[in-house]
Amino acid sequence: MQYIFVKDLAKHLGEEISLRGWVRNIRSSGKLLFIIFRDGTGEVQSVAFKPDLGEEAFEQAKRLTIESSLIITGVPKKHEKIEGQYELSVKEIKVVQYAEEYPISKKEHGPDFLLSNRHLWIRAPKQWAILRIRHTVYYAICEYLNDNAFYRFDSPILTPNACEGTTTLFELDYFDEGKAYLSQSGQLYLETGIMSLGRVYDFGPVFRAERSKTRKHLTEFWMMDAEAAFVQHDENMQIQEGLIRHVIRSVLRKCDNELDILERDKEALRKADAPFRRMTHYEAIEYLRSKGSEISHESDLGAADEVALTEGSETPIFIEKWPKSIKAFYMKRDPENPDLVLGSDLIAPEGFGEIIGGSEREDDYELLLSRMQAEKMPIEDYQWFLDLRKYGTVPHSGFGIGLERLVTWMSGIHHIRETIPFPRMIYRIYP
Ligand code: 4AD
Ligand code: MG
Repeated sequence: MQYIFVKDLAKHLGEEISLRGWVRNIRSSGKLLFIIFRDGTGEVQSVAFKPDLGEEAFEQAKRLTIESSLIITGVPKKHEKIEGQYELSVKEIKVVQYAEEYPISKKEHGPDFLLSNRHLWIRAPKQWAILRIRHTVYYAICEYLNDNAFYRFDSPILTPNACEGTTTLFELDYFDEGKAYLSQSGQLYLETGIMSLGRVYDFGPVFRAERSKTRKHLTEFWMMDAEAAFVQHDENMQIQEGLIRHVIRSVLRKCDNELDILERDKEALRKADAPFRRMTHYEAIEYLRSKGSEISHESDLGAADEVALTEGSETPIFIEKWPKSIKAFYMKRDPENPDLVLGSDLIAPEGFGEIIGGSEREDDYELLLSRMQAEKMPIEDYQWFLDLRKYGTVPHSGFGIGLERLVTWMSGIHHIRETIPFPRMIYRIYP
C-alpha cells in the first residue's frame, strides 16, 4: 500500500494510493457515497460506488460520521468541473474509528463555546487556514533573518528582571533566589548575543499580565526579537520593512487557498508590499489633532489613533522618534532632541494596529545608568546589562514582532485569539 498526502495527489493521477485522515463531511445518494476527506495537508472529495466496494463494505462506510478517522484507498483523477482540484475514486475504506457525534456543527456557535472546545475547533476549515498561515509567517520570518546574517539565540523565559516595565509582569517564587518573572521580551538578552554573534534573534513565548480585554491582547504570545550590532535607527527600520515585505510575499505565494477560505482581501495584501511610510510621533499627534482629536504630544497612541493614522494608507506606517517619557528605559536618546528617543512602532494598515516595536539602544554607560536611576530601577539586577556598555560597546538596534498580531493582519481576521493554537487571555486558561 502506498500512503501519500492529499497535497501530493496531482503527482499520482491514475495510480492506486492510500490516504490517512478524517471525514470532514459525508452524504450518500443511492449507490454513491461522497466523503469530503481531509488529512491536514488538504481536502479531497472521495466517491465510493457500491459495486466497487461490495455490499457489506459499502454499508459500513455509510455509517461513517463526521470526524471519523479512516484509511481510504483509491485512484485520484482530475475534478471534472473544477480546475486544479482532484477527486478520488474509492476502492477500499478502512475505518479506524467511528467518531461520536461531533460537538461542533455547521450551525453558529458562540465564541465561548468554541474557545472551550478549542481542542476540536482547530479542525474547522478557517482555523486550519489560520494555523497554516501562522506556520508560513513563522517560516518566512526565520528565512529572512537567516538570509541576512542573523543567528538564532534563544533567550530565557524565567528571568530575574523586567524588560518592559513592571506593570505586566507574571511573578513566581524561585526557590531560595527570591522572585522570578516570566519574560516579556528576550531583548535584553539578545543585546548580549550580538556582542558574540553580531546579529541574533529569538522566537518564543513571552508573557504579559495584561489587564486589557481587547481583541489585540493575549497574556501569552509569541515574539520574535531581533538585534543587530552596528545598526542604527534608520537601518533598523529598513530591516523591519524588508522582513515584513518578505512575509507578505511568502503568504501570498504559499497560502492562496488559505486566504480564499478566510475570504481575505488579497489585493490589500499585495498593495502593502510597497515602500512603508514614516511619520514622527510629533507629526502623528499633529495629524490626529487636525482631525479633531484632543490627544496631547506626550501621549501614547491608542487603538483608535492607530486606525485613524493608517486610514487610507495601503502600506504599514512607522511612527518614529517618541517622547522619552512614554518609551522604555533602553531606547537611545535622539542626538537632535534629548526629549525624544530613536524608537519606532510599525502600524499595520486596514486597522490592524501595532505589529512591531523597536529602537536603537542606549549604548553609553553613564546615560543608561542615569536613566535607570531616574526610573528607580534595581540597578544590581541589571548589572549584566549595563556591563555591555563597558566592554566594547557599539551602536546597535533591534525590534520585536508580535507573531499573532502579524498573523491576524495576514489572515484578515477580527480577533487575535484565533491565531494561536491555545489562546491565553485574562479570562481564559482552558483547555
Ligand atoms: O512593543 P513591545 O512591547 O516591544 C518589546 O517588547 C521590545 N522589547 C521588542 C524589541 O525591541 N525586541 O512588543 C513587541 C510587539 C508589539 O509590537 C506587538 O506586536 C506584540 O509584541 N505585543 C502583543 N501581542 C499580543 N498580545 C499582547 N499583549 C502584546 N503586547 C505586545
Ligand atoms: Mg509597543
